[in-house]
Amino acid sequence: MTAPELGQQMLELQIRHNRLWWAGEAGNWNLAYYMVSELGEALRGIEATNGDAPELQPQKLSEVMPRIMNPAIQTVQQALAQRKKVAFRQAYDKLSAACTACHKEAGVDFLQIQRPKTPLLDNLRYAPTKGN
Ligand code: HEC
Repeated sequence: MTAPELGQQMLELQIRHNRLWWAGEAGNWNLAYYMVSELGEALRGIEATNGDAPELQPQKLSEVMPRIMNPAIQTVQQALAQRKKVAFRQAYDKLSAACTACHKEAGVDFLQIQRPKTPLLDNLRYAPTKGN
């Protein structure tokens, strides 16, 4: 079976990364925690299906991706546990920097990941409902 196209898999990361921001900005901590978990799962999926991605050669994506991303994901999870926006924003910027760091390693350093200014797919409610 041929591996999925890495650029295609990256689009899912981009969506998750965007949604995570708006969930955190809304102070919807449960939704934000869910989004960062989904982002983590998406990373695991890419490592499993595209661990030898030609874009990273001679390095192995299955090694580079967890090395760069796992600490950043954990930092976001810890910040969300604090339920504080300042901590969340700092952790989010580290996460974006981690994405960009891998793009640099892969020789696509023109792909710079930043805080979004617009929510994607706004039919998902970000505002917390009572009890969240
Ligand atoms: C293992 C290294 C690596 C990590 C980690 C990584 N990327 Fe990428 N990303 C790439 C490579 C390589 C490409 C270029 C893919 C191609 O050649 O099509 C890319 C491309 C992209 C693109 C452009 C896709 C397109 O074709 O329009 C986006 C957007 C993107 N990444 C977002 C992210 C986000 C967001 C994160 C972090 C949550 C992230 N990436 C983490 C390696 C990585």
